[in-house]
Amino acid sequence: MSAIAGRKLVVAVTGGVAAYKAAELVRLLGKAGADVHVVLTDAGSRFVTAVTFQALSGNTVWSDLWDPRMPNNMAHIDLTRGAAAILIAPASADVLAKIVHGMADDLLTTMCLARDCPLLVAPAMNRQMWENPATARNLARLREDGVHVLGPDTGEQACGEVGMGRMLEPEVLVEAVTAFFSDKLLGGRKVVMTAGPTFEAIDPVRGITNTSSGKMGYALAQACARAGAEVVLVSGPTALQAPYGVRRVDVRSALEMRAAVMDNLDDADVFVGVAAVADYRPAQPAEHKIKKSGDGLVLELTPNPDILAEVAARASPPFCVGFAAESRDLDIYAQGKLRAKRLQLVVGNLVQDGLGGDLNTVVLYDAEGRTPLQRASKDEVALGIVARLAARLTQQLR
Ligand code: CTP
Repeated sequence: MSAIAGRKLVVAVTGGVAAYKAAELVRLLGKAGADVHVVLTDAGSRFVTAVTFQALSGNTVWSDLWDPRMPNNMAHIDLTRGAAAILIAPASADVLAKIVHGMADDLLTTMCLARDCPLLVAPAMNRQMWENPATARNLARLREDGVHVLGPDTGEQACGEVGMGRMLEPEVLVEAVTAFFSDKLLGGRKVVMTAGPTFEAIDPVRGITNTSSGKMGYALAQACARAGAEVVLVSGPTALQAPYGVRRVDVRSALEMRAAVMDNLDDADVFVGVAAVADYRPAQPAEHKIKKSGDGLVLELTPNPDILAEVAARASPPFCVGFAAESRDLDIYAQGKLRAKRLQLVVGNLVQDGLGGDLNTVVLYDAEGRTPLQRASKDEVALGIVARLAARLTQQLR
């Protein structure tokens, strides 16, 4: 279950072109199970109407401090009562400046002053407004006051300029809010991971690879980041986007993957090998495209280094987690890998249960034995793995 499910969230929409994205944000937060209540400022209503937000949230949209529909005339208090957070998205330069000074001249600013829940803001403005020293000062003050600033992003702006100041995309904001509410089971830890397949060149246009969508590794990287870890994801070729808050290092071959892991391993508390690393690579990749001939072709393969085993064999290794995707005899092979590679945890699954799809059935193996997790989405499975990993890590450090 998402960390935002069942929470009351007040989403405030201020005046900025990015207000059109707030509609999608409200939809996605609702889909994740949040009870969303929208506050729309006057300037916000110039961009998107209350009808849109009412339809998407299923709740009344509030704009006016003096709205007679609120029986006690205390909209600024009642709206945030029981709320898990206020999220202002988009947050204009103007509203940020007002909040810094504790101004309370409309429903939103009064509500922010009267709140007893966290305040999250997703700034959105033209890049020059963002770079203005006044905005920088305001942002610094807001952070000092405990306000959580999400973004902004850099890129194309509605004004035609390119630069810093774009609001984070709705799905990224949902991820940031989910991370905000997640238990920080791995707070302060550094996790280095591998994911996806590797690709071993035969010639400039052909290669050997493994079947791996990367979905399980990416879901686990996301779960570790939500749990507060600094995450470095060394990824073979996949079609996936790097999860929010995760630093991705792109590689192709097993040798590149090994080098990137070793480069990032300093201070790592945890190493997780999820990648389906090719066990062999062509001994002599051809410099030019191999031309077809009537004869057969014999490829000489040479073994790749075992990245996980190498990390686990270091003098003071991080907590090492391996994956074992098997087509039969899961218990035997997974427990064998736990011992042979000297790992602290192995996540085993039968390939027919998880490969390529969105669901997975896994069994966790560690010094205490085997723990099957329920068949669930790869995101849910990742949460289960993080919980076990965090518990074992704490025990080990005691
Ligand atoms: N692994 C690795 N480097 C390799 C091979 C595997 O880091 N060259 C890691 C994988 O990321 C995974 C674990 O080791 O976490 C087990 O991988 P797997 O391919 O199942 O095992 P192998 O040791 O290669 O054994 P086999 O292919 O014979 O099952």
